[in-house]
Amino acid sequence: MSDLERTEFSLPEDLQQSAASQASARNSDVDAQLQPGEQDAERSLRPKSLGEFIGQPKVREQLSLVLNGAKNRGVTPDHVLLSGPPGLGKTTMAMIIAQELGTSLRMTSGPALERAGDLAAMLSNLMEGDVLFIDEIHRIARPAEEMLYMAMEDFRIDVIVGKGPGATSIPLEIPPFTLVGATTRAGMLTGPLRDRFGFTAQMEFYDTPDLTRVITRAAKILELDVDHDAAVEIGSRSRGTPRIANRLLRRVRDFAEVNGDGHIDLAAARGALEVFDVDEMGLDRLDRAVLSALINGHGGGPVGVNTLAVAVGEESSTVEEVCEPYLVRAGMIARTARGRVATSAAWQHLGLTPPEGALGLF
Ligand SMILES: Nc1ncnc2c1ncn2[C@@H]1O[C@H](COP(=O)(O)OP(=O)(O)OP(=O)(O)O)[C@@H](O)[C@H]1O
Ligand SMILES: [Mg+2]
Repeated sequence: MSDLERTEFSLPEDLQQSAASQASARNSDVDAQLQPGEQDAERSLRPKSLGEFIGQPKVREQLSLVLNGAKNRGVTPDHVLLSGPPGLGKTTMAMIIAQELGTSLRMTSGPALERAGDLAAMLSNLMEGDVLFIDEIHRIARPAEEMLYMAMEDFRIDVIVGKGPGATSIPLEIPPFTLVGATTRAGMLTGPLRDRFGFTAQMEFYDTPDLTRVITRAAKILELDVDHDAAVEIGSRSRGTPRIANRLLRRVRDFAEVNGDGHIDLAAARGALEVFDVDEMGLDRLDRAVLSALINGHGGGPVGVNTLAVAVGEESSTVEEVCEPYLVRAGMIARTARGRVATSAAWQHLGLTPPEGALGLF
């Protein structure tokens, strides 16, 4: 077993779950957050090298330069910040960085580093050249963050021993390491922390051809027989997110095995996605309910998010943080000072004719 697999295997359950347990997850097939019980399925599908990693050409090229440059010079690479929405491959990329460098990966997460001592323990156990991965680094506690500044810059920390007037600070050298931080909220990082990363990789949403390749690759690993047009269909409904693509593939597999011989053709993909309520745009029932409340209930808006939330029977935070980002990105909803407005694309998506003057009609 490689170091990579070993470290991932030993990641405590509560850490694996930390992304999934964030309050606003909605447990839908098109939710990009990791869902309970999904880790095993994901682990088997993680690409293990830069060459195997699909999409993100810019990030791959830049990272390859950073890593190879450092390798050639015989130094540890700059600290790397991986930033982007859930399910786009940040954790996967962190593991690949360690793999490419031929070093071990130590994993922790921001919420687990509550006290400076928690971080000191991690840092003092590092070996030269190790990759320290801190997931959700924007959630790191302040004292630990301050210790991290010095560790990142000078490979040194001050450990405070004792309490009160008798407390002394003992400097401790740390072997050179590479910090890889991941965040879904780069904006929440403090300036000093952000400045200490030598390289920031911004992960982008994937286009349908890349998602089709993600699905084809996963199908091969899972030994599934998937037609190309079926893979395209699943990919186009996956909201630009490999995690969702892999999840939808599993749903389609179940459908094809129950309703046929397991062969996944276009009809099976469409049938399954209809059963699981994922439409051609990757919208689920709640997304469509929001659009319908906005259009059928309020003439397309503008309407406040609280009103929309009441209309669909959800918390406004769920509508705002879980539904809206994708609806806005897909060009169906616009956020204006007076409230939410449906664009012509939203009217058309519900099979309606957009009124004159609807946003997005020229
Ligand atoms: N480029 C890719 N090629 C193939 N599969 C990918 C790729 N990126 C991500 N995946 C798949 O998507 C799943 C989710 O990726 P990963 O856990 O790395 O996302 P993440 O950005 O860390 O998400 P989170 O913000 O929730 O932690 C992985 O199991 C992996 O199989
Ligand atoms: Mg992750």
